[in-house]
Amino acid sequence: AGFPSVLRSGLSKMGVPSDILDLLFGFINAQEQYPKIPEAKGSLDAVRSEAFFIPLYELYLTYGGIFRLSFGPKSFLIVSDPSIAKHILKNNPKNYSKGILAEILDFVMGKGLIPADGEIWRVRRRAIVPSLHMKYVGAMINVFGEAADRLCNKLDDAASNGVDVEMESLFSRLTLDIIGKAVFNYDFDSLTNDTGIVEAVYTVLREAEDRSVAPIPVWEIPIWKDISPRQKKVSKALKLINETLDQLIAICKRMVDEEELQFHEEYMNEQDPSILHFLLASGDDVSSKQLRDDLMTMLIAGHETTAAVLTWTFYLLSKEPRIMAKLQEEVDSVLGDRFPTIEDMKNLKYATRIINESLRLYPQPPVLIRRSLDNDTLGKYPIKKGEDIFISVWNLHRSPELWDDADKFNPERWPLDGPNPNETNQNFRYLPFGGGPRKCVGDMFALYEAVVALAMLVRRFDFQMALGAPPVKMTTGATIHTTDGLKMTVTRRMKPPIIPTLEKMPAMVGDSSVGFLKD
Ligand code: HEM
Repeated sequence: AGFPSVLRSGLSKMGVPSDILDLLFGFINAQEQYPKIPEAKGSLDAVRSEAFFIPLYELYLTYGGIFRLSFGPKSFLIVSDPSIAKHILKNNPKNYSKGILAEILDFVMGKGLIPADGEIWRVRRRAIVPSLHMKYVGAMINVFGEAADRLCNKLDDAASNGVDVEMESLFSRLTLDIIGKAVFNYDFDSLTNDTGIVEAVYTVLREAEDRSVAPIPVWEIPIWKDISPRQKKVSKALKLINETLDQLIAICKRMVDEEELQFHEEYMNEQDPSILHFLLASGDDVSSKQLRDDLMTMLIAGHETTAAVLTWTFYLLSKEPRIMAKLQEEVDSVLGDRFPTIEDMKNLKYATRIINESLRLYPQPPVLIRRSLDNDTLGKYPIKKGEDIFISVWNLHRSPELWDDADKFNPERWPLDGPNPNETNQNFRYLPFGGGPRKCVGDMFALYEAVVALAMLVRRFDFQMALGAPPVKMTTGATIHTTDGLKMTVTRRMKPPIIPTLEKMPAMVGDSSVGFLKD
């Protein structure tokens, strides 16, 4: 008999009850019978470097689709295997909570939809998802267009004055202006103004990102909050945002009370198509704290993600003039000089493929975070309750086993007439918006937002990396940022000749030289 069974009978003779022995030895036996998850012996320093998902990629190449990474008493499971990712996200999602993510984001999102788990999540998801119906997304196309047009005007000034622009911060402001209108009908106008509220939003965002990469949670030390100037600034910013949200909720409630519109499935108030308006009109029975948490969550979820997608898309395009030229050709022929409409979305095929491919190379966020609520089996490995898990979307999206030329920016890998790539048709090797019941609620919104902004900008301008711009490196917070910005030189494009269409001809009917066009 092996050592465990000798030990067991010994303990049993000493009077240890058999159910306790079962528990103890069940665990030991399980450990003996099942293979053990590979343990990465990575250097701690490497993982603490700025973009932590890069060393995780190196470790993945060595240790494979699931491995354990330990820091002293803490350990994480790093998952880079499509079928294990599918198991966690789609087949057994009830066994996984948001874990550390919920802890870190509590100060800003509370029990909002991203960190929430269990029953609260279920109820809020059911209330919020219907608000993003097709009619709403259609109305948002105009909001995207107007905001992108404001950015164009700004770039136009820069082009006239011959000054370079830092695109990452401009994209951040573009998407902040959009998400403010979209979620609670508030015009941050951050592309033109730096108001207190805009600054407060950025204070809170930076804090959330710093906390997510901080080695020690200093903010949990009770008196720290009251004496640290930085924490005081964060509290002040949160207070301002909460007050503003409360005001917006109050204004919206009055509008809903006064309107005659009947609530129905595709309900939308034309003056205020916001998600907040939909929620209040639906009679969503919710505490004001919960409503604020959800609004804050959507503000953050929908802001930095899309900004990062646009930033990396323009970076990728700056290196591929052929792809840029092909994109501009498509945009010229689909849009000409108009604002985009929802019908244009299906015709801006190449633009969409560029965003799909940009999301593959720079997934936002680069890792998804979970914690097991009970024992489970991942691949061939048993895992215990309470494991902290990182699903590395970065690794999945750049795996040399799963992709040809994984590191190459190649929009052509997605056929123009094929389906829009998603986690289901790519069998979980591609997860730009997650998967399973916790998949992004704003996926169509975000895709269209990125396509509209991309199309409107490249229609009017050419973009080049600015001379002497710092090399573009990655830094992580929640999304992938550049380390020193994306500095570009913007030049106005020569307008392509506008080819008259037959509909425009009647004004010229009197002109005999074009008379032949009449029939
Ligand atoms: C969840 C990506 C834009 C709202 C997620 C998740 C991903 C994601 C990967 C899953 C997180 C997880 O499983 O842990 C993105 C990307 C975007 C984007 C790449 C832009 C390109 C938006 C927008 C909104 C939004 C515009 C709001 C209008 C949400 C919400 C969740 C979520 C509320 C949580 C859903 C739940 O847990 O039930 N997003 N998102 N996202 N996203 Fe997005």
